[in-house]
Amino acid sequence: MRELLAGQSVIAVVTIEDSRDAVPLAEALVAGGILAIEVTLRTEAAVAGIREIIRHVPNAVIGTGTVCNAQQVALSQDLGCQYMVSPGLTDDLLHAAEQASIAFLPGVSTVSDVMKAMQFGYRDFKLFPAGAWDSKAFIKALQGPFPSIKFCPTGGIDVDNMRQYLALTNVLAVGGSWLTPNSLVRQQRWSEIERLARDTSAMCTAYAIG
Ligand code: 3PG
Repeated sequence: MRELLAGQSVIAVVTIEDSRDAVPLAEALVAGGILAIEVTLRTEAAVAGIREIIRHVPNAVIGTGTVCNAQQVALSQDLGCQYMVSPGLTDDLLHAAEQASIAFLPGVSTVSDVMKAMQFGYRDFKLFPAGAWDSKAFIKALQGPFPSIKFCPTGGIDVDNMRQYLALTNVLAVGGSWLTPNSLVRQQRWSEIERLARDTSAMCTAYAIG
């Protein structure tokens, strides 16, 4: 994930309800400087939307999200995604991802989760749900025992709190859906999504993060 995210501090978590929205949505994010796009496998439109983005938005760094089982690992790979992200981890998922040829960002929420996934060789983790407790203190505390590990806090991140997370040296990137609010997507207000992406990118640049 570190190589894929090089220079990117934000992963846009996107849930596609209508596959016709996928390309303009991805184009707006990319135009605003947000290249890493995680499309959650939570809707029927997700698969067609991912295919469209891969075909028409070559600069997007596209991955699947909410990957929970071996079938979704295989699907992510077959679609041609560059990576996949899970909210948590199970033995089945770790074994399936081990066989896959694309990157995997396993979700963790405990020290034991981190240790378990480290046994499979992972060094980068989605920390989920970051906003449900004081995860900044948690992330900071893990720096001592796990100096080579980096986190992508997700779940409850927004433009106001992202800087506090990105200031932590063991945070690789933050993820979230704040860049693509349902209300804007349903009304196809792509220029506003581009502006949100641009503002977020500018904030990352201003504080020399990403
Ligand atoms: C998700 O899978 O929905 C993500 O973790 C996004 O969480 P958020 O909507 O709180 O940003």
